[in-house]
Amino acid sequence: MGLSLAFACFLFIVTLFQFTAFSFSSEQPAVLCHSDERLALLQLKDSFIIDKQALAAGFCAYPKVDSWDSQSVDCCSWDGIECDKITGVVIGLDLSSSCLYGSINSTSSLFRLLRLQKLNLANNHFNYSLIPYALGNLSMLTYLNLSSSVFSGQIPSEISKLYRLSSLDFSNNWDTNLSQRLLVLEKPDMKSLIQNLTNLKYLSLSYVVVASPIPSVLANLSSLTSLYLEFCGLQGMFPLAIFRLPNLETIWLLHNLHLTGYLPEFNFSNKLKKLALLNTSFSGELPASIDNLNSLEFLGLGHCNFSGSVPSTLGNLPNLKFLDLAINSFTGSVPPTLGNLTKLGTLDLQYNYFTGFIPSELTNLTQLTYLNLLGNMLHGSVPSSISRLEKLNFFDCDFNRLGGILEMDPFLELKDLQYLFLSLNNFYLVFLDNSNATRPQAQLVDIGLRHCHLREFPYFLRNQHRLQLLDLSSNNIDGQIPQWLSKVSVETLLFLDLSNNSFIGFDDFPLVLPWSKLQYLKLDSNILRGSLPVPPLSTVFYSISNKSLNGEIPQLLCNLSSLSILDFSYNNMSGGIPVCLSNFSKSLLVLKVRSNQLDGPIPSGWATGNRLKMIDLSKNKLQEKIPKSLMECKMLEYLDLGNNQIRDAFPSWLGSLPELNILILSSNAFYGRMENPKLNLIVFPKLRIIDLSHNRFNGTLPWGYFERWISMKNLDGKNSPPKYMHESLDMMISIMHVPRDYDYSMTITNKGMEMKYPKIIRTLVAIDFSSNRFDGEIPESIGKLKELHLLNFSNNNLVGGIPIAIAKLTNLESLDLSQNKLVGRIPMELSTQLTFLSFLNVSHNRLTGRIPGGGQFETFQSSSFDGNLGLCGKPLLKECSSNSRSLPPPSLTSSGEFGLDWKVVFWVMDVDSYLEW
Ligand SMILES: *[C@@H]1O[C@H](CO)[C@@H](O)[C@H](O)[C@H]1NC(C)=O
Ligand SMILES: *[C@@H]1O[C@H](CO)[C@@H](O)[C@H](O)[C@H]1NC(C)=O
Ligand SMILES: *[C@@H]1O[C@H](CO)[C@@H](O)[C@H](O)[C@H]1NC(C)=O
Ligand SMILES: *[C@@H]1O[C@H](CO)[C@@H](O)[C@H](O)[C@H]1NC(C)=O
Ligand SMILES: *[C@@H]1O[C@H](CO)[C@@H](O)[C@H](O)[C@H]1NC(C)=O
Ligand SMILES: *[C@@H]1O[C@H](CO)[C@@H](O)[C@H](O)[C@H]1NC(C)=O
Ligand SMILES: *[C@@H]1O[C@H](CO)[C@@H](O)[C@H](O)[C@H]1NC(C)=O
Repeated sequence: MGLSLAFACFLFIVTLFQFTAFSFSSEQPAVLCHSDERLALLQLKDSFIIDKQALAAGFCAYPKVDSWDSQSVDCCSWDGIECDKITGVVIGLDLSSSCLYGSINSTSSLFRLLRLQKLNLANNHFNYSLIPYALGNLSMLTYLNLSSSVFSGQIPSEISKLYRLSSLDFSNNWDTNLSQRLLVLEKPDMKSLIQNLTNLKYLSLSYVVVASPIPSVLANLSSLTSLYLEFCGLQGMFPLAIFRLPNLETIWLLHNLHLTGYLPEFNFSNKLKKLALLNTSFSGELPASIDNLNSLEFLGLGHCNFSGSVPSTLGNLPNLKFLDLAINSFTGSVPPTLGNLTKLGTLDLQYNYFTGFIPSELTNLTQLTYLNLLGNMLHGSVPSSISRLEKLNFFDCDFNRLGGILEMDPFLELKDLQYLFLSLNNFYLVFLDNSNATRPQAQLVDIGLRHCHLREFPYFLRNQHRLQLLDLSSNNIDGQIPQWLSKVSVETLLFLDLSNNSFIGFDDFPLVLPWSKLQYLKLDSNILRGSLPVPPLSTVFYSISNKSLNGEIPQLLCNLSSLSILDFSYNNMSGGIPVCLSNFSKSLLVLKVRSNQLDGPIPSGWATGNRLKMIDLSKNKLQEKIPKSLMECKMLEYLDLGNNQIRDAFPSWLGSLPELNILILSSNAFYGRMENPKLNLIVFPKLRIIDLSHNRFNGTLPWGYFERWISMKNLDGKNSPPKYMHESLDMMISIMHVPRDYDYSMTITNKGMEMKYPKIIRTLVAIDFSSNRFDGEIPESIGKLKELHLLNFSNNNLVGGIPIAIAKLTNLESLDLSQNKLVGRIPMELSTQLTFLSFLNVSHNRLTGRIPGGGQFETFQSSSFDGNLGLCGKPLLKECSSNSRSLPPPSLTSSGEFGLDWKVVFWVMDVDSYLEW
């Protein structure tokens, strides 16, 4: 301020006399604006249109230029204009939030206002214009704000000449359509832009793509008070010297994932009030000397790489209002001294490795509204004095090692409490005053009581009228879901999870469940009896994989036109699948009715434009043919019709489904030859897993398909389908603010061996044609499917030799050719090239000669080779006679080096796991 005043005095020194004259006589008329500047302003106004949409949507305050009237002479009185009181020149132009829309360039009349000191164009829409280089001519500028105004491109170097600038803001120029940053600071880079701007106090480049590391010259800007560099894509090391800037109050560096740095010893004092490093790669420990930052109000270190214990001196920052240490690797206990931070409103410690107790001192923090302890290793219980935190609005201690008897009542006394998460500890939650709630009670919005050893339905819920989320899953509540629940939060409830209890039914509920906004309903793993409950029309997710539901599928279900996920697998439902179930919701992604007693045909109403990704009708008694309308499921990734009674030829027409990854037709009555596909047809372009086992297919193996299954040759986007499925679910669940505890791994048992393969699906490529009547030889073209992990041709009528081409399948983990009529030797190449092979079965064929040694073959048992009279050598007991031609085993390192922990991989497509990858 002082400086700019000085400049003004210097420039207008000739008018000093007038100034004194004015100050003597207030009768003097105000100085009128200069007509050339007035004209320039009117031209400026005309170069834009007023964005009516933005105005209507409330994105801008009001169009200041509306008051700029060609009839009105004195432009100094117009909205947004500031004139020099003596000379009448325009020195300030504030058009922020004025709904301006249009392009601007260096020919704009704006740049005729050469005496401008302050220019604020923030929060308009300049239509992706480049920032005009002519700004560099406004050499008097001390204040320049172009934030949130849809400028794009490189920031021009002319800005670096504006050495009077004390405030410079280019932030938030953002393309909402493409969700991307618009401005770039590359040439000039940040260093050349700012190095001469030595008067800067306020600098914001948030949301500008800054290509270079933060230049150390920044630490020369000794006047700097505020530095905002949010989401700039910064890399490299943050210059430590910046922390020492004596006037700095704000360091705001959020969301620069690759920005590294650490906190120095603060053996100096400064004025720092806000230090926000959230979501960067800052690391190291929190120095004990942090308590020298005694002005600090905001300390955001969440989602970085900090580690070590939290120094107790952190409790000496009397002004701290916001403390976020979430998602780091802090260890040790939560310092009780934090209880001295009496102004603290937010304390976020989630996802660290804190151990020990929750210090009771925390309940001294009477200003606290947000307390998050989720995902640590805290022991003990929640201090009962929690009820002292009268302003508490959010409390989450999910997923710790807390336990003991926990009383609900102190929480309910907190009248501002809306979000309460006590899940996934070892609490025995009790309700002392469970009968009468006459006192005012917390009106909760979200409540998570998963795994709290509840034995009864919590009675206090009767008085909860604003619930959006209720999670009572994994408790021991049995009996009926009480009738009174049908009146609880009927208008607000969005999410209801009652899974993993022992509920037997809804006690006298209406035919359609009552919560009119419900989106998510999970009732899995109970012992619900009777017919399928029908959720309200709003439902998006409905999962009721249970044991005991029976009866037919209610037609009412077909009214749920918003449903995305429908899963009532593992019940006892019978009757046919109503045709409407194949065409009731345009949003349906997943239809899962696995393992019921459903019979009749597969419904045939699959409609054009549906979004289904997964259809699982397996383990029922469905009959007849696959309806051709399945062709309409263009997004289908997963089709499981296994274990039914379908009688049909191979549905080669499914090969036109562009997204189909997984096709399971096993254990049905499919029959006949698999004809090779026509040459010019695209067939199963994304197929990675096909299971045709246990059918009656005959004829030769379809070598033509092996040539053409391109995604088995080369996986594109290795994790697309399961990731996608998981994301769509995840997204829904994260909106709902639900504690997540998915089990991403799966355990599979096969032939007595168990394996755990946490990411099995991402790269799993498999062919299972076992237990059919295929004959002829194994075609060489199988060797092209380089991504194959599992190959099973067992129990057919295959003849000829084992093709050497199989040795090209270098990703192969499991190979089963047993129970055929194969002849000849086992190719040596299988042992030298299949270095991942952990399961091999060639038993019960007519193979001859010496079993190759070396490689993975050292690990196979004799059962892999049994039933081949002509085979000899290890691991069989039969020795090879001296005249059986034998090559020396390849000199390989000990089998130990191949990793004894290689796991046997078998192919079991468990759909439950699929949903949870
Ligand atoms: C915005 O920019 C586009 C593309 O340059 C142009 O066609 C359009 O006329 C501009 N709109 C306004 C109001 O200047
Ligand atoms: C600058 O903008 C004006 C008015 O929109 C236009 O007529 C002129 O062609 C532009 N000049 C350049 C160099 O783009
Ligand atoms: C900064 O100022 C110095 C001296 O006034 C000048 O020589 C130099 O070119 C300027 N640098 C930039 C990037 O403007
Ligand atoms: C801070 O808290 C600790 C323990 O909680 C206490 O002993 C100490 O006196 C407090 N310090 C101040 C300055 O209040
Ligand atoms: C803070 O909490 C502790 C333990 O809960 C208590 O002894 C102490 O008196 C409290 N201090 C203040 C200032 O309330
Ligand atoms: C609840 O309170 C009301 C009024 O105070 C009383 O009439 C009623 O008996 C109480 N109910 C129970 C179960 O205590
Ligand atoms: C293959 O199966 C079909 C249908 O079951 C049958 O008609 C045909 O004779 C079989 N072909 C051979 C070669 O067994």
